[in-house]
This record gives sequence, structure tokens and C-alpha cells, in this order.
Amino acid sequence: MEFFLDTADVDEIREIAAWGILDGVTTNPSLIKKSGRDFKTVVSEIAAICPGPISAEVTAMDTEGMISQGLALKDDLPGNVIIKVPCTPEGLAATKFLTSKGIDTNVTLVFSASQALMAAKAGATYVSPFIGRIDDTGADGMQLIAEIMQTWACYPEITTKVLAASIRHPTHVLSCMQLGAHTVTMPAKIFRQLMTHPLTDRGLDGFLKDWAEVEAAGNA
Ligand code: E4P
Repeated sequence: MEFFLDTADVDEIREIAAWGILDGVTTNPSLIKKSGRDFKTVVSEIAAICPGPISAEVTAMDTEGMISQGLALKDDLPGNVIIKVPCTPEGLAATKFLTSKGIDTNVTLVFSASQALMAAKAGATYVSPFIGRIDDTGADGMQLIAEIMQTWACYPEITTKVLAASIRHPTHVLSCMQLGAHTVTMPAKIFRQLMTHPLTDRGLDGFLKDWAEVEAAGNA
């Protein structure tokens, strides 16, 4: 079970990394734009904060371009950066090549079990089905995770990890885990929501108040 942060905001990454349970980070061109910072600078900083896999996405549309961008990213960025490739025929060929060179990949923008299967066949390290964006269309994103995990169960030789992405709420995370997804990537807000419960806060208030009285009575 792996928990990734889906952001290019280094302050958020520092905050959640301090919890001690962060396994990796995913970025994409939109998240880099939102950060307002230089792509390679921000990814290098992220890679220094979190030792786990950090996804950096290629933007070329042709196989050669994806391969040369992927190789350049691997040359220029820290060793824990992995290459995010779109789920297209050109992306499959790039994935196959990068895998043959021992470079870890994350095949992104996956919206069907058949796409996930093709990415696994190409040797992807991770495959990223986008749950929330499917929900946004009125379909059931979680059904896709169920279909992928069911397919994976038929082929124990598949080593590609299912990285559930486009997470919108804490229930998405729990449902993905109950279906056996290997990894979930989520915004910092969802990490915080997963850890928050009003009864924990109320219980802690009560304990602290009572302990203050124990101390005041000289019994601590
Ligand atoms: C995954 O790697 C993507 O960066 C991300 O999960 C997309 O999520 P969104 O649909 O919230 O943009």
C-alpha cells in the first residue's frame, strides 16, 4: 500500500512528508503551471523532500520525442524521478523503450481496463486510472479500479502497480484500498481529511483539560 501526494506545491509536500507516511509524489503539467515555478527546479526540490518515486511528465506526442524528453529528465533530475507518459500508442512504445533501459514509468490518463492492460504489457511500473474525472462524466470511476484489479488477479506475472489518481474525497481512497489498488495519489487536502475526526479532537480536549487538573492538584 502506497500513499502519494498529487501536487507540485513543496510546502504541502513538506507538511505531509513530516507525517512519516508519504511514499511518493505525482506531478503533471497542470500542477507545474499551478506552482508558478520552473519545472526542473520544482521537481528537484520535491525529489529532495520525498525519497519515493516522483513522477515528471513528458509533453511530446511522438515516441521519439517522449523518449528523448524522458532520457533528458533522467539525466538532469535526481534518481528517484520516474517518467510519466500519456496512455497513447506512442506512449506505449516510449514506455517499452524506457523500461528496457531500466527507467521506471507511470502511464497516465488511463480511463479503461483495456488501456491499463496495454500499459502493463508495455512494462509500465505504474498505471494511473483517473477516478474523479470518470465520476465527473456521471460514470463510476471506482468500477474501473475494480475491473483493473479483477484483470490483474488473472495474471500474477503482472508487476505494474495500479496507481489510483484523480482522487476527490477520502471515500475514494478507502474504496481503492478495499479493491486492492497498490497506490493512491491524492491532494494534501485529502490526506488531512483522512486524518481528521471530530471525536478525536473532542476526546483530546477532554484529556488535556483533565490532565491540567491532575497537574494543578500536584498529582502529575
Ligand atoms: C495523476 O497523476 C494526476 O496528476 C491527477 O491525479 C489528476 O487529477 P485531477 O483529475 O484532479 O486533475
